[in-house]
Amino acid sequence: MAEELKISAKTKTEKYADLLPQIKALVSGEPNLIANLANIAAALRQTFNWFWVGFYLVEQNELVLGPFQGDIACTRIAYSKGVCGKAWADKATIIVDNVDEFPNHIACSTLSKSEIVVPILKNGKVRLVLDVDSNQLNNFDSTDQQNLETLASFIENLI
Ligand code: SME
Repeated sequence: MAEELKISAKTKTEKYADLLPQIKALVSGEPNLIANLANIAAALRQTFNWFWVGFYLVEQNELVLGPFQGDIACTRIAYSKGVCGKAWADKATIIVDNVDEFPNHIACSTLSKSEIVVPILKNGKVRLVLDVDSNQLNNFDSTDQQNLETLASFIENLI
């Protein structure tokens, strides 16, 4: 495992290119999913300084809070509720430029302004969602979607 992250890149695209191989090295050889998700959340927040980064795990008909970095957050989210529940139901990434304009957005913090949620599937079923919140409006775009979906595919192999 790497001792520390080395992110020398300046642009977002370059940061992802620097980070993703280091995440793979970070979890290499560690079989515990929760430990790996915890380090992945930390690596993402450390690199991008987002307001909140974490995982919700599917348990029966709810999402339950998993490893995260940031302020305390909602513990349980029902199927199809909020951005996370909708990404689960749709089996698709959702980008929200302004959370105040998203119907049924669940505000864990009033400081969160924009959000991206990426579902992580195994054998066609959503098992986790990756939720990232920013304290700035319009902070996520197709570069984030593409790279976080690549990360989601990698995490699928850790489950
Ligand atoms: N905003 C999310 C809830 C989770 S927190 O942002 C950490 C939602 O609407 O699903």
